[in-house]
Amino acid sequence: MINKIIILNIIIIDLLIKKTFQERIEINYNYNNITSFQYYKDFVYLYNNDTIISKEEILKYTDIYYTGYYCKNNICVQTNDNSYARHFIEFPDNNEHIKLYIATTYPYEYIKEGDYINRHCSTRYEGIECCISIQCEYDSQCLSNKCMNNHCIFNDNNPIEHCDSIYSYNKFLDRRTSYIHCGKPYRDSCENNEECSSKKCAENKTCLMQLDGPSDSEGFDMKVYVGSAMFVIIIITIICLVVKCRYEEFKKKQVRY
Ligand SMILES: *[C@@H]1O[C@H](CO)[C@@H](O)[C@H](O)[C@H]1NC(C)=O
Ligand SMILES: *[C@@H]1O[C@H](CO)[C@@H](O)[C@H](O)[C@H]1NC(C)=O
Ligand SMILES: *[C@@H]1O[C@H](CO)[C@@H](O)[C@H](O)[C@H]1NC(C)=O
Repeated sequence: MINKIIILNIIIIDLLIKKTFQERIEINYNYNNITSFQYYKDFVYLYNNDTIISKEEILKYTDIYYTGYYCKNNICVQTNDNSYARHFIEFPDNNEHIKLYIATTYPYEYIKEGDYINRHCSTRYEGIECCISIQCEYDSQCLSNKCMNNHCIFNDNNPIEHCDSIYSYNKFLDRRTSYIHCGKPYRDSCENNEECSSKKCAENKTCLMQLDGPSDSEGFDMKVYVGSAMFVIIIITIICLVVKCRYEEFKKKQVRY
């Protein structure tokens, strides 16, 4: 009995030590050393043969959903998500060397008001707290080419170009389609929907994300729609028939009198 209690105690103490020890481990990465991180790919939109495509080419796409692109000098990097999930991106510099840029960018007003996140932490890597800082030191580290108070901010002299797949669904024909629209990225300032890659300019004049795409209920909606239409047609037909019969009866009666 006493042995069991001792063993139980040891297990509990062991767990407590492990827990506190784990919480103390924290790995930090920033622009300068993120490339040495084993899970680099989870944070960077990579520039390689699988992800790059010309802007001309993507503008022809008509049936893709839930994806996005960042473009620079008419070369686009596919992001495979439409939610700006990664904070860094690779593009070739003027000397054709692949260079890392901070993609996550804020309007200057957000920085003034402290309305930003510049450090992203996660424990999904073997339970160790990994924190990625997206602070900049130099303009050249930002995709927008403007670093202010350690944050990449939007720069009218070097606008970031983003493209989204704009989804549309024709309920009547039960046909879905999409096209690519390029423009300002999420959080950039806008006057109208056209200016944003998402075609969504919020009331507060900032571009929103384009998160629309096909859903599971799409076909279901269509069936309900066709079902109701047929029901209405049948009812109308019955009413017409009844009215017609009554009218003919009425006419016959009139003739008799
Ligand atoms: C990356 O650089 C930052 C700042 O210099 C440093 O605090 C951090 O420990 C470095 N990370 C690694 C894993 O070396
Ligand atoms: C892409 O593929 C070509 C050959 O098909 C190769 O020469 C080039 O280095 C590749 N580029 C990248 C970025 O992987
Ligand atoms: C602008 O509006 C969007 C959605 O309506 C909101 O998510 C965003 O935080 C707002 N931005 C500011 C600066 O208030």
